[in-house]
Amino acid sequence: MSSPNSSIESVLVENRVFPPSDAVVKAARISGMAGYEALCAEADKDFEGFWARLARENLQWTKPFTRTLDESNAPFFQWFADGELNASANCLDRHIGTPTENKTAIIFEADDGAVTRITYKELLARVSQFANALKAHGVEKGDRVLIYMPMTIEGVIAMQACARIGATHSVVFGGFSAKAVHERVIDAGAVAIVTANYQMRGGKELPLKAIIDEALATGGCDTLRNVFVYERTPTACNMVEGRDKTFAQALAGQSTDCPPVAVGAEHPLFILYTSGSTGKPKGVQHSTGGYLLWAKLTMDWTFDLRPDDIFWCTADIGWITGHTYVTYGPLAAGATQIIFEGIPTFPNAGRFWQMIERHKCSIFYTAPTAIRSLIKAAEGDAAVHPARSDLSSLRILGSVGEPINPEAWMWYYKHVGGERCPIVDTFWQTETGGHVITPLPGATPLVPGSCTLPLPGITAAIVDETGNDVANGAGGILVIKRPWPSMIRTIWNDPERFKKSYFPEELKGYYLAGDGAVRSADRGYFRITGRIDDVLNVSGHRMGTMEIESALVSKTDLVAEAAVVGRPDDLTGEAICAFVVLKRSRPTGEEAKQIANELRNWVAKEIGPIAKPKDIRFGDNLPKTRSGKIMRRLLRSIAKGEAITQDTSTLENPAILDQLSQTN
Ligand code: PRX
Repeated sequence: MSSPNSSIESVLVENRVFPPSDAVVKAARISGMAGYEALCAEADKDFEGFWARLARENLQWTKPFTRTLDESNAPFFQWFADGELNASANCLDRHIGTPTENKTAIIFEADDGAVTRITYKELLARVSQFANALKAHGVEKGDRVLIYMPMTIEGVIAMQACARIGATHSVVFGGFSAKAVHERVIDAGAVAIVTANYQMRGGKELPLKAIIDEALATGGCDTLRNVFVYERTPTACNMVEGRDKTFAQALAGQSTDCPPVAVGAEHPLFILYTSGSTGKPKGVQHSTGGYLLWAKLTMDWTFDLRPDDIFWCTADIGWITGHTYVTYGPLAAGATQIIFEGIPTFPNAGRFWQMIERHKCSIFYTAPTAIRSLIKAAEGDAAVHPARSDLSSLRILGSVGEPINPEAWMWYYKHVGGERCPIVDTFWQTETGGHVITPLPGATPLVPGSCTLPLPGITAAIVDETGNDVANGAGGILVIKRPWPSMIRTIWNDPERFKKSYFPEELKGYYLAGDGAVRSADRGYFRITGRIDDVLNVSGHRMGTMEIESALVSKTDLVAEAAVVGRPDDLTGEAICAFVVLKRSRPTGEEAKQIANELRNWVAKEIGPIAKPKDIRFGDNLPKTRSGKIMRRLLRSIAKGEAITQDTSTLENPAILDQLSQTN
């Protein structure tokens, strides 16, 4: 853990405050700070009673729980453990027989603009039919199913169908490589894969099934029996006899009725791999009951959801945001949501704004990187400026995935929200399952760049390296002191790593988020200052520096050693910078450019294009202490283009710094 103070140098004093209007406060579910404080007080007074009440009110249990929180095997906390429920029934069946059954669940807009709508009743039928297809192919409760799908209704159906039969899904983002898929099939012990022949992005047809074939051809996937292929486009793909079935083949003759399988509240709903500070991604395991409670509740709290809202979360189902705020939260809450297959810049960078107008979107939730790139596009071309679209349907805006800089916040507030819509800057992580620190639209006065205050029941705090609270205004380590229902349960196959990563002894058993943070002196508002471990956040995508280093050094014919650090980037938040020592002499000029490109493509193949280093620098060596430790803080300064002011007296080879400062 590096000192959180290093990232706090960038603290800016933000004086602008945007309180919600009286009308917004009056109409809100959690109305004003009094409403927020009342819930916090309830949680304070009777922590378990608070959560038990919410779990009873928000979820349908086939067997009621009698025990709320079991801390006897901390940090493997259990919530509502003797209760039983089904996640898919809580998203779909619960609406049948209510006016919601004929409501549109999903408005799907394809890459080419074609729009498909599906009601809750129709979605239930299609989920049930696919669940029956899975069962017919031997997929059972407790089995793992890997999902590698484009943003489509079928992606949601695949996830919900797994939940319906008690299978644990593991979605892999469609931009990850065959190698990443291979590792995840093996780690999860997946029995089936659900994929598509191709995906459509920006007018291009990109292969998905071919990547699955490549992954499975690597061998070692002994548990894998079936591959289900959704035919997204008419183009044929390779099909392996006996193993692969198209959706049409798998669904033929299957009933649209499939009773949901009740599972214990702690049953793993899904595993989602994310980057940590070692080379190997972590399979974050989430529960059924606690996770779903939070997905539903934060729809109501953070987004103040109303029956007539049109909700749009732009995240891909391959990330946690797409799990909680596409597949589970909106459906559990009975919302109508937009799902978009394509990319924000196709056919032009006004696509998001045009879609908001077209579908009368009222709650729009996206990432700062998307906002920053659309600002740039709008500033360069008035035709794609949000002012060209009618955005009057919007009532709430959201931001997620990385810190939003105040300039981008102000632009979003003014040009997208018309200075009328509160922005909820939601801080959370794959591990937290849902929002943990966020403004409430009808309560919290907003400060640009701040995620403001923890949700009721979330005991977020900032502590020093021994777990003691620090004063407001001083930076420190972000922790959550008590468990909460949607927290990570363990790392799949690696409980020891779970304990070590998230509950280090020196922090008194608190959950360690891995971010630095500071609370404002006046309001006690939280501002996230960035990761304090070796995790990078590039365009809101999380990546481990060690993961990229391992990928680089696995090019054994060329690379001797590599060190990867992040540096600030105006557009992507952070950019990846790699320092590489080759097994041959240090290249310069054109040759250096060519090898750098070769290495970028290698990393794309090993991990995925999102992990490609922006900068690659070559050296005869890396800056190391006499004991051989790479001095990363020096590399961070070099990557930023800063003069080296740190103490370099322990450095074995100071001359190397000049060499590494040269860009290709
Ligand atoms: O560093 C924080 C940043 O994203 C990390 C979590 O990444 P991931 O697990 O991929 O989940 C992203 C979507 C929830 C955090 O440790 N982060 C997320 N939201 C914010 C943020 N940083 C600042 N402000 C946020 N609102």
